[in-house]
Formats: sequence, structure tokens, C-alpha cells
Amino acid sequence: MRIRRAKGMKSNALIGHGYLPPMIQRLYLVLLLFLSLSGFGQMPIFKRYYIADIPGFGWLAKFFVTHTIHYLSAAVFLSLAGFVLVDFWLLHRDRLTVTVSGYLRGGLLAGILLSGVLLVIRNLPGYRFSPVFIIVLDIVHLGLVLAFFLIALACLVLKKKWTKFL
Ligand code: HEM
Repeated sequence: MRIRRAKGMKSNALIGHGYLPPMIQRLYLVLLLFLSLSGFGQMPIFKRYYIADIPGFGWLAKFFVTHTIHYLSAAVFLSLAGFVLVDFWLLHRDRLTVTVSGYLRGGLLAGILLSGVLLVIRNLPGYRFSPVFIIVLDIVHLGLVLAFFLIALACLVLKKKWTKFL
């Protein structure tokens, strides 16, 4: 099945070639914002560096608030990733291909999602993982997040797209 790019749809360095509706692209950026704010909030750095003292930012220092926001945003992010993958596979793979930087960002996101899911399992009652594995998981999740944001920033500056036309 062939789908053409809608007239007036701009190509977008953040997501791909503009084949995704703008609403999906905005949702992706909003989710990244909330996931990083709530993720770093759990470290916890916002209280330590007085950012939570700024009026309106107090919630960043409340563990259960940031924890719940992280879980809810992660659930929506997983659904969005599933939607984009299925949509790409069913409707766009005959005219678009994933670029090297697209694979790189996708691979990093996959690692973040996988380590995040394992951290959720770690948080369930009971002991499943060894203490060393838990520390490794935490460092991997954080390391991949930092690597993803650095590479996403470089791709934004260099206007690298996720996909290109075949
Ligand atoms: C781009 C997406 C994401 C970003 C930017 C992000 C960011 C972070 C950060 C910075 C931390 C703190 C790491 C630390 O304490 O060393 C964290 C912790 C965590 N993240 Fe994520 N994360 C993302 C996606 C996910 C997903 C998809 C899940 C689950 C499916 C997830 C589950 C968790 C859990 C369970 C923790 C540990 C919370 C705790 O200490 O109990 N994250 N995340």
C-alpha cells in the first residue's frame, strides 16, 4: 500500500520525514519532556539545586509525584513506540527507509525502554535481581538517557532525519 506525504506537511528532523501527524510528533516531545523531568526528579536533583524552590516547580521534589508521572508517561511512550513501529511496518516501509542516525536513536530508545521495564519489575514487591544487576540497570538506564539526548541534540543541529525516501 502506498501512502503519499500530505500536501503542506513539513519534513521534521525530530521524528522523521513528516509522515507522522503533527499531533504524534508533539506528543513524542511532550512525553520526552515529562519523562526526563520526572526521571531526573527521582535522582533527586531539583531539590538539591533549589530548582524545586521556584514557585510552580515544587512538585519536582515530591518523589511519589515524579514517580507516578514517570510511570504514566512511560506507559504512553511504550504505546506510542508500538504505534509508530506498526504504522511504519504496515504503511511506510515500501517508500521510506530508516537512516543510520534513525537506527542509532531507535536503538538507544529501545535500550531505555527495556532497562525501564526491568526497573519497573525491580520495583515490584519481592527480590528478583541481584544488587549488582540493579545498580547496572540504573546506570544503563541513566547512561542511555544521556547518550540519547546528546545524539538527539546533534541530530537536531545537523538536521539528521530518522527516515529517508527509498
Ligand atoms: C526517554 C524516556 C525516559 C527517560 C528520559 C527516563 C529517565 C530516567 C531517569 C533520569 C531516571 C533516574 C535514574 C537514576 O535514578 O539513576 C529514571 C528512572 C527510572 N525510569 Fe526512566 N526514563 C525514560 C523511560 C522510562 C521507561 C519507558 C520506563 C518504564 C517502562 C522507565 C522506568 C523507570 C524506572 C522504574 C526508574 C527508577 C525509579 C526508581 O528509582 O524507583 N523509564 N528514568
